[in-house]
Amino acid sequence: MNLSKCRIMDLPKVADARGNLTFIEENRHIPFAIKRVYYLYDVPGGESRGGHAHKTLQQFIVAASGSFDVILDDGSKKKRFHLNRSYYGLYVPNMIWRELDNFSSGSVCLVLASDLYKAEDYIRDYEVFKQMTSKGKKKHNVRRKQ
Ligand code: TYD
Repeated sequence: MNLSKCRIMDLPKVADARGNLTFIEENRHIPFAIKRVYYLYDVPGGESRGGHAHKTLQQFIVAASGSFDVILDDGSKKKRFHLNRSYYGLYVPNMIWRELDNFSSGSVCLVLASDLYKAEDYIRDYEVFKQMTSKGKKKHNVRRKQ
């Protein structure tokens, strides 16, 4: 998987004097069906989360409140995204290593996921992740040369 597939996606925003409203429909505003929703909150200052990749899971990450950074890594390149609005989010495909840090006080990190929680889908060792991504690249290059 390539970092270029990771992208900020704008969401609909219904602006209203009574307060704004944003909604997300599966396969329309994000490119997958939503099977699970989870959120990180009460993250103490200076803490970081994540530190893993997924073999198949796709995610869409929104700063529902406050702000934080998401650092994405495809095994060869890294990019830091600052999320601080509720009307856009970050699409993270499978086989991307992610870390989250720089949480503002009271922030809420909302994650929409393409599958149920499956421990076996996690890659928690960065060296294993690096090996898997470099094998994937080698295979791709062999196929291209043929
Ligand atoms: P973990 O993946 O370590 O969180 P982070 O992505 O911030 O590193 O998850 C922490 C714990 O919560 C771990 O024991 C697995 C559990 N968990 C579930 O049971 N269901 C879920 O949907 C998620 C995301 C985590």
